[in-house]
Amino acid sequence: MYFPCGSRWRRPPDVEPRNRPTDCCGTRMANPAEQAGFDRILEHLQRSRGFDFNAYKRASLMRRVLKRMHTLDVKTFEEYLDHLEVRPDEFLLLFNTILINVTSFFRDAEVWDSLRATVLPSMNGGPSRSDRIRVWSAGCASGQEAYSVAMMLAEELGMDAFRTRVKIYATDVDEEALAEARRATYSSKHVADVPPALLEKYFDRNGDVYTFNRDLRRSVIFGRHDLIQDAPISHVDLLLCRNTLMYFNSEAQARIIARFYYSVNPGGFLALGRAEMLVSYASMFQPADLKRRIFKTVPKLSARDRLMLLAQSHREDHVPQYPDYGKLRDLAFDSAADEQIVLDATGHVMAINAAARRRFDLSSADIGTRIQDLELSYRPAELRPAIDRAREERREVSLTSVRWEHGNTVRFVDVIVSPLYDDDRQLLGTRIRFVDVTSVRSLQDELRHSKQEVETAYEELQSTNEELETTNEELQSTVEELETTNEELQSTNEELETMNEELQSTNEELQTMNEELRNRSTELNSTNAFLEAVFTSLRSAVVVLDCEMRVQVWNAGATNLWGLRPDEVRRAYFFGLDIGLPVNQLQQSIKDVLNGHAYRETSVAATSRTGKPFQCRVSASALTALDAAITGVILLMEEQVRPS
Ligand SMILES: C[S@@+](CC[C@H](N)C(=O)[O-])C[C@H]1O[C@@H](n2cnc3c(N)ncnc32)[C@H](O)[C@@H]1O
Repeated sequence: MYFPCGSRWRRPPDVEPRNRPTDCCGTRMANPAEQAGFDRILEHLQRSRGFDFNAYKRASLMRRVLKRMHTLDVKTFEEYLDHLEVRPDEFLLLFNTILINVTSFFRDAEVWDSLRATVLPSMNGGPSRSDRIRVWSAGCASGQEAYSVAMMLAEELGMDAFRTRVKIYATDVDEEALAEARRATYSSKHVADVPPALLEKYFDRNGDVYTFNRDLRRSVIFGRHDLIQDAPISHVDLLLCRNTLMYFNSEAQARIIARFYYSVNPGGFLALGRAEMLVSYASMFQPADLKRRIFKTVPKLSARDRLMLLAQSHREDHVPQYPDYGKLRDLAFDSAADEQIVLDATGHVMAINAAARRRFDLSSADIGTRIQDLELSYRPAELRPAIDRAREERREVSLTSVRWEHGNTVRFVDVIVSPLYDDDRQLLGTRIRFVDVTSVRSLQDELRHSKQEVETAYEELQSTNEELETTNEELQSTVEELETTNEELQSTNEELETMNEELQSTNEELQTMNEELRNRSTELNSTNAFLEAVFTSLRSAVVVLDCEMRVQVWNAGATNLWGLRPDEVRRAYFFGLDIGLPVNQLQQSIKDVLNGHAYRETSVAATSRTGKPFQCRVSASALTALDAAITGVILLMEEQVRPS
């Protein structure tokens, strides 16, 4: 397996073979079988998802895949390929791990200062003009770069001009990052790099959420665009492709830059990231601010006047009057280290220096030959178009970093074709120089490569750092949540405990009351039994009425006299009873008693149960409660014995 040095994914030393080679960063190289396993993953991704990861730098790509495998605890590429095949959702997770979306508002502040100072004033359709301004943020991640340009231009042009003139195209291959960009909402942490005045002016704040100004937002158009395979956006005045090229290998970078050249308007600008360079593309872009990696397109054919100025480099206004001057000049020309050839205005060879004679196997016999008849006209580079251009445009034309194989050696040369004029600015001929840039190029390549590696590693570190920070924050919030839940549980527990205790005490109280009630009930029962016995033992009929004249007590004497049992008259209306007693004749005496007279006696003619007529004496007494209130009437009924 392949393990990045010093990273979290390093295999423990006891498992790692000792003598496996490492790359320039000290990273252990994958063995051929592992490389083949990794290739199979890339093939699978291209076949199943149509995404070509071959354009990415292999070392960092492998590191990202290993990172994902580590998360899943998958040990080999084969195992991971199986996982990718059976879990369609894994692609997105891998994609998210591979694409590093680190970005920020006004990232690298000095670059933005330079854009304001260098680019804005001279941009096609700059602030003083009314033309449209088209900007492309390629690899825009979650949109901060595009919104930064929007703010910069709105500040420069004013809101109204911005709305009518500016279109910002912001593209990325990562749909999730684009969705975030389209939302245009950021946390306070994200907007930390926005100057306070711009934050106040271009964002609406709601708590910790900052939403980018809706009016400006309308001029920013987000879309999915793959720099490897999609056609570029055209007629762009400013193209920002920052910290994105460095993820691609040099072939892919070359393809992308060639497309950028056709995308950017003449005189337009290209801004790259700190670690990204354009060393071998001098024919397309030249530095506008090299330190800040801002480049300007090389003016195309229409800018003829400016080209004329560039061609003025061969005047000999003050030739010293010295006898050996001509000889010395010829010697200097002949002994120059670069291969040099001079042609006349019609393209015939006029001079060949010693280095060129050696390198191209030429001799003085070739003087006067037409250049197109010599092999050097097409090897190592096609010279005729360059010669024609130099003559036509009256300027020096360079073919940079031309690969030149000679026997077993490979060199890189800059071929420089310079037009030569006489004092009257008449074209005399052309000089062709082959300047060896092999060592410079390999140094530049190495430098660029190491810089990009460092930058990539830094980006990864930053992204890992952010991940760690997020995880840490999540952990902290989970701990806080757990603590809160714990406290809530504890207080609920305490409440339950309290309620339990309260219930227990209520229970005890109820038990006591129950006991008391039971005692009272026993007492009442015995009192009742006693009263019952008293009523039953009385020979006279006793009837007790409540205040509503309903029968409460009907003793055995009453049953005996009138024939009805207690259960037949219980709660019956006394004046509705059909018995041998003319109950209505008792109304007055009962009323009197209820009105406060303690006692009334009435004698009425009645008929007993057996049908025997008799004179009945009815005594009515008030039934008085303990508080002296009258609660009913007691009627005592007995046969009146006539005096004999
Ligand atoms: C590190 S970010 C750069 C963001 C921003 N330009 C900046 O400098 O702050 C790199 C971006 O390149 C995008 N990217 C990677 N491969 C791409 C591709 N083939 N086509 C378009 N964008 C790509 C990634 O999704 C990521 O959002």
